[in-house]
Amino acid sequence: MSDRIAHPHFRNVVMSAEEAAAKVHNGMTVGMSGFTGSGYPKAVPTALAKRIEEEHAAGRPMRVKVWTGASTGPELDGALAKANGIELRLPYNSDPIARERINKGEMDYLDMHLSQVAPMAWQGFLGDLDVAVVEVTAIKSDGTLVPSSSVGNNKTWLDRAKAIILEVNEWQNPALEGMHDIYYGTALPPHRIPIPLVKPDDRIGQPTLRCDLDKVVAVVPTNAPDRNAPFSPPDDTAKAIAAHLLDFLAHEVKMGRLPENLLPLQSGVGNIANAVLSGLNDGPFHNMTAYTEVIQDGMLDLLDSGRLLMASATSFSLSPEAAERINANMENYRGRMILRPQEISNHPEIVRRLGCIAMNGLIEADIYGNINSTCVMGSRIQNGIGGSGDFARNAYISVFVTPSTAKGGAISAIVPQVSHVDHIMQDVAVIVTEQGLADLRGLSPKKRASLVIENCSHPDYRDGLRDYYKRALSGSYGQHAPSLPGEALSWHQRFIETGSMRA
Ligand code: COA
Repeated sequence: MSDRIAHPHFRNVVMSAEEAAAKVHNGMTVGMSGFTGSGYPKAVPTALAKRIEEEHAAGRPMRVKVWTGASTGPELDGALAKANGIELRLPYNSDPIARERINKGEMDYLDMHLSQVAPMAWQGFLGDLDVAVVEVTAIKSDGTLVPSSSVGNNKTWLDRAKAIILEVNEWQNPALEGMHDIYYGTALPPHRIPIPLVKPDDRIGQPTLRCDLDKVVAVVPTNAPDRNAPFSPPDDTAKAIAAHLLDFLAHEVKMGRLPENLLPLQSGVGNIANAVLSGLNDGPFHNMTAYTEVIQDGMLDLLDSGRLLMASATSFSLSPEAAERINANMENYRGRMILRPQEISNHPEIVRRLGCIAMNGLIEADIYGNINSTCVMGSRIQNGIGGSGDFARNAYISVFVTPSTAKGGAISAIVPQVSHVDHIMQDVAVIVTEQGLADLRGLSPKKRASLVIENCSHPDYRDGLRDYYKRALSGSYGQHAPSLPGEALSWHQRFIETGSMRA
């Protein structure tokens, strides 16, 4: 028996993943742990997927609704989507098989602001939660749970679910204990009170998750790493984006609009965001802090170099090499990293109070600075909005970064009008591509348009944007944010018809 299970009640319900999965039935809603590929259950979802395949082979229906923190791993989203076992998925997905099912219309997907998932579950807006399946590092003798490599919505799933299945993953380092800060002070209106967090390193909660013993129906010991994806090393494009952003931040310090150690950093997911963090390692800034959603490789490098004093997040999002690095040196990192529930890591009240510098990726931006983070050609989901909206609207400076083209140049990331809107122009302060940076603060739509076209668009598409905008200036119905509705999405239509946005 694993010595990670230190409470007799939990020991009494130790069973195999298959036995635990048998407790999940057709039509149930299952709240799983997991955030950006970290801390997700690995054995029970795989066993559940196998059972779903067997049920389908026998001609019986079986699908479940799956709620998580954010993205998980192939053993969860991949396996369940392959088995066609997911009826509804929320709040974020980056698994390619699940993405394909969503885009084929075979699976419903609710793409949500990550800070809002737990409150909405408490408000009852999402329906009942039948089972929680949560990975933990250990079960303590007092019956509390040491969280794993992410916290996500686990607190809420454990409190709300009618039944609980725990995976105790021995691969996770026991030294994770003490790194988490679980705040239980949230409430529903009209009983909400201010969240007492005023600095990124404040601890306002407790290190473990509480758990109602009577609801625990299964405990499954496991021993497997998170299946984290490697980041691409920063290429010239990513390095150019990072350089523009660093120049901008240095200028803001010089102008007295930012302190010398900047303000707490938030960095989004993806290769470009990671490259920006790597750039900060070579920049002039010291004693930085991070109040963010995920700790990725670039942030780990900043912690290692001492540039970053500490990082608060809800999860790790690491390459396999970086995951090993953290796991081997957990004691060194413990005092400098805090993992919190995602409703706190992404809380608009705190993001606004701390004055975070938000840096997120995008699919496309339009000439006015509206941002599409999620839907390719307006309809095909890539990942989801994630926490970008939580941070972008409330940040001190909201920055979006992107290469100026995608798919080998066939797509311009700067378009006349975005084909789907995640972030309205009022939530977007700065756009950066490898071509340059557009500081849009304080500018009217027309001033924004000229700057975005001239500073951010790729030369191959710049004349086309200038031409569109010039004609919009003369032919538009109104002159506040000139547009030609019949033509504004024609670049997307051309891509759909020809495979390229090029004229
Ligand atoms: N049209 C079509 N595809 C596009 C595209 C566009 N305009 N822009 C990007 N893509 C595709 C890329 O081609 C790439 O596809 P591939 O994986 O098949 O090669 C993929 O999107 C990732 O793009 P990449 O350029 O490598 O950037 P990234 O890894 O930085 O990711 C987002 C960019 C927008 C997908 C990513 O930032 C995201 O999902 N954002 C939304 C969630 C978010 O911001 N979370 C952070 C909150 S804390």
